[in-house]
Amino acid sequence: MKQITFVFLYLLAFKSFSQYNPLWIPDTISGVNFNLTVKDTFKQLRSGNQTITGAVNNSTFWGPTLIMTKGDTVHMNVTNKLNDSSTIHWHGMHLPAVMDGGPHQVIPPNTNWQPYWKVTNPASTLWYHPHLHEMTEEQLGKGIGGFIIIRDAAEAALALPRSYGVDDLPIVLTSRRYDASNQFVVANTAYGDYMLTNGTPNAQVSLPKQYVRMRILNAETERGYDLGFSDNRTFYIIGNDGGLLSAPVAVTRVKLMVGERVEIMVNLGNDAVGSSLDLKAYNSGQAFGFPGGEPNTTGQFGSLLNNVDFSVLHINVSSPTVNPITVLPSSLVSNVYWSASDATVTRNIAITNGNPGPASVPFNFDNTSFAMNTINKTVQLNAIEKWTVTNNQVFGHTFHIHDVQFKIVARNGSTASVGSHESGWKDVMYVPKGENVSFVAKFEDYADAIHPFMYHCHFANHEDGGMMGQFVVKDSSSANGIETKYTEVNFMLYPNPAQSKLFVKFSDENASAYYIKVVDLTGRTILMLPRPQLQDGIDIIGLTPGIYTIQLTDEKTKSVTIRKFVKE
Ligand code: C2O
Ligand code: CU
Ligand code: CU
Repeated sequence: MKQITFVFLYLLAFKSFSQYNPLWIPDTISGVNFNLTVKDTFKQLRSGNQTITGAVNNSTFWGPTLIMTKGDTVHMNVTNKLNDSSTIHWHGMHLPAVMDGGPHQVIPPNTNWQPYWKVTNPASTLWYHPHLHEMTEEQLGKGIGGFIIIRDAAEAALALPRSYGVDDLPIVLTSRRYDASNQFVVANTAYGDYMLTNGTPNAQVSLPKQYVRMRILNAETERGYDLGFSDNRTFYIIGNDGGLLSAPVAVTRVKLMVGERVEIMVNLGNDAVGSSLDLKAYNSGQAFGFPGGEPNTTGQFGSLLNNVDFSVLHINVSSPTVNPITVLPSSLVSNVYWSASDATVTRNIAITNGNPGPASVPFNFDNTSFAMNTINKTVQLNAIEKWTVTNNQVFGHTFHIHDVQFKIVARNGSTASVGSHESGWKDVMYVPKGENVSFVAKFEDYADAIHPFMYHCHFANHEDGGMMGQFVVKDSSSANGIETKYTEVNFMLYPNPAQSKLFVKFSDENASAYYIKVVDLTGRTILMLPRPQLQDGIDIIGLTPGIYTIQLTDEKTKSVTIRKFVKE
C-alpha cells in the first residue's frame, strides 16, 4: 500500500513537472489600417490568483502581430484605454519623428492617436511597445507590445517558411517575478524568475518535421539570452533586427540582447515524429557583465534564472506540412552596407556613471541624463554618420537608435570582431563592459525641427532612469526649421456644426497642418492627428455631441491656432 501511494505521488509530481502549456501565438492584423487598443487586463499565469497584465486588443498579455507590406502607406488608430498616458513606438521603423511614438507623442487616456507612414523598411521583424518617459519599464512590464512583420518582394521570392504560427513562428522572450498574490514585480527588478515565452509559462509547441523559421525577440528588462538547442544542433541565422542577411550563417549559439531580434531556420527534417527538443538559454558561466549572469537568486539583480541554463520553448516534432521547406537557401538578399569610410560625421558617446536619474539608475550618456526639453544632438538630413559608443562601466548595456537601421562597422576598432549574428542591418547593439562599438547610418528622408528621435539603452529601467538622449534631423536646405516671424495661420472649419466630417480650409492655399488635436471643453485631448491629410476631412463621427476645439499647429511656423466647432 505504501508503495502504491508512493508511486501515485511520484506520478502526480512527475505530471506537474512535465506540465507544459501550449505556446500562445498572437493574432495577426494585415493590410493598411491597424486598430490597436491598449488596455489593462489579466491572465491566469500560475495557479491561484490571476495576474493583472497589460495588452493590446483581445490579448491578455502582449498584442497582435501587424503584418505590413513594403511600399504600403499604413494608417494606425491607437486608442489608449489605460488609466495612464502612454505612447506606442514602432521600434525599428523608418518614419517621420512625429509618427514615431517616442516619449513626445503622449497619448492621454481615452485618446486616439492616428499616425501614418509609408513602409520603406525591407522585409523584417520589428516590434511596437510603450515609450512613455519613466513609465516604459512599468508599461512594457505589464506585457504591452507586439510584433510587426514586414513583407516585401525580395523576401517573397525566397523559398522560406512563411506560414505564420505553423512553420514561421513569432517568439517573444521575457521573464517575470511574482509577489505572493501572483502579481508582477517590476519596480527595482532587473530580472524575472519565471520564463514567459509569448506570455506563456512553460511553453511547448508542435512543429512540423521540416525547416522551421523562428523570429525571436528579446523583450526583457535586462536579461540577455545565449540561445541554442538542447542537442547542440547547428541552426542558421537568416536575419537580424533590420531584415534578412545576405546569406544564412551557421551557428550553435546566438546571443540575443534586450530589444534585438534574430530570425533563425532550424531543420527538424531529420527528427522523428514524436521526438522533442528544447530551445534553451545557455546563460550559465557567462563572463561578468552579461545581463543575467549574476550569481544571486534574489534581490534587484538576482533571479532564479540567473547564471543557469533553462528552457525557453519545448518543441514536439510533428508530421510535415503539405509543402514543407526542406532546403536552406544558400543566399538571401543583396544588402549594400555602409562602411566606416562612408561616414562624414563622427560622434563618440560614452556610457557614464552619472547623476542618478529619477529611478536612481546611475547610468547615462556623457554625464547627461535625459531631459524632455533638451535636444542632445542635431543631425543634418542625408548625413552619413559614424557613432562609437564606449562602455567603461562595470556592466554590459544595449544601445538603440530610432529613425535608422545601421551597420555595425567595428567592435573595439576591429571590423573582424563584428559577430556574424549581427552582420546585417541593426537598430540595437550590445556594448559589453570595457568595450566600444561603432556603427554607420544614413539619416535620410525625414527632417523635423520639433519632434526628436531617441537613442537609449534598451534596458527599460536604464532608459527610464535617464540613459537616453534625443536628436533632431535638420534639413538646412529648406524652411523646415521654425520661422522666427510669428504668423497665426488662418483657417476655417466647415460645416460647423458638423455631424461626421469636419473640413479645414486654409486662407493661404500653401498652408498645411503639422498637427491637429481635437480637445473637449474639459481640456481632454480626444484625437491626435500628426500631419493629417485633410482633403478627406477629419472623421468626428465617434465624438459625443458637444463643443470642441481644434488646436492646429501650422507646418511652416509651428504656431498653434485654436478654433471651436460643434459636433451635432
Ligand atoms: Cu524599442 Cu526607443 O525603443
Ligand atoms: Cu525604437
Ligand atoms: Cu543600460
